[in-house]
Amino acid sequence: MSATTMNGTRAAGGGRYGSVAQAFHWLVVAMLAGQYSVALWLSYVLPKSAEGDLVAWHFSLGSSIAVVMVLRLAWRLTHPPPPAPRDLPGSLRLLSRATHWVFYGVFIVLPFLGWAAASADAARVKLAGLIPLPLLVPKDDPFGKAMQTVHPAIAITLLAVIALHIAGALYHALVKHDGVLGRMLPGRRADLEASANL
Ligand code: HEM
Ligand code: HEM
Repeated sequence: MSATTMNGTRAAGGGRYGSVAQAFHWLVVAMLAGQYSVALWLSYVLPKSAEGDLVAWHFSLGSSIAVVMVLRLAWRLTHPPPPAPRDLPGSLRLLSRATHWVFYGVFIVLPFLGWAAASADAARVKLAGLIPLPLLVPKDDPFGKAMQTVHPAIAITLLAVIALHIAGALYHALVKHDGVLGRMLPGRRADLEASANL
């Protein structure tokens, strides 16, 4: 049996995320996979001559993530998510919610810290690679200089939170078989997950 909730999500049992929330989720996952690859991995693989391009990609993709996350936050605040499964212990419910809000907060603030870090070296940032932005702080600004350490440190710490989040999703899918992963998958995939008890 299924019904449609106020925010357009199809409620089957515990309900699920609507298609816009799902699209935002997987778009940001793809952008972050690109961003972390550019920041941490490609610099070791590509020749030294590609360094300038990589930095430009890092700025463009990073600033686009901030824009998408602001739009996503606006969507999230106006479209409540489906309720957590009833048998989920309060501590896990809290952990899951806290993780989600950390993602919203960090992936909006982190790009600004990166912008400050870039500005302290007078490096120019283009929003989404198109719109030139001013320096966020003056060249050699102490806050901007500090962000050259703090910004990467936060980004790398976040990898642990992302790993925790993915472990949680896999725990629901492989151990609990409670369809929580399906809430974030498009219709047919979600139905497959439910019927195959992944
Ligand atoms: C969600 C978005 C972002 C993520 C996940 C992210 C992640 C990272 C990571 C992991 C590093 C370390 C790279 C390494 O040590 O090899 C880094 C460095 C850096 N990022 Fe980002 N970044 C983001 C957005 C941005 C933006 C929007 C800018 C600038 C507009 C920026 C500017 C920088 C700079 C300048 C560094 C080098 C700091 C230094 O070593 O001097 N980042 N970032
Ligand atoms: C960069 C990686 C990721 C980030 C930043 C991220 C972020 C988020 C956020 C912010 C939410 C909460 C949505 C909301 O209520 O507004 C969420 C939910 C969810 N994510 Fe992710 N996610 C990532 C990767 C993944 C992956 C790889 C999977 C699957 C293996 C996954 C599965 C889920 C599921 C199933 C939910 C819904 C949880 C529930 O119904 O309570 N996520 N994610």
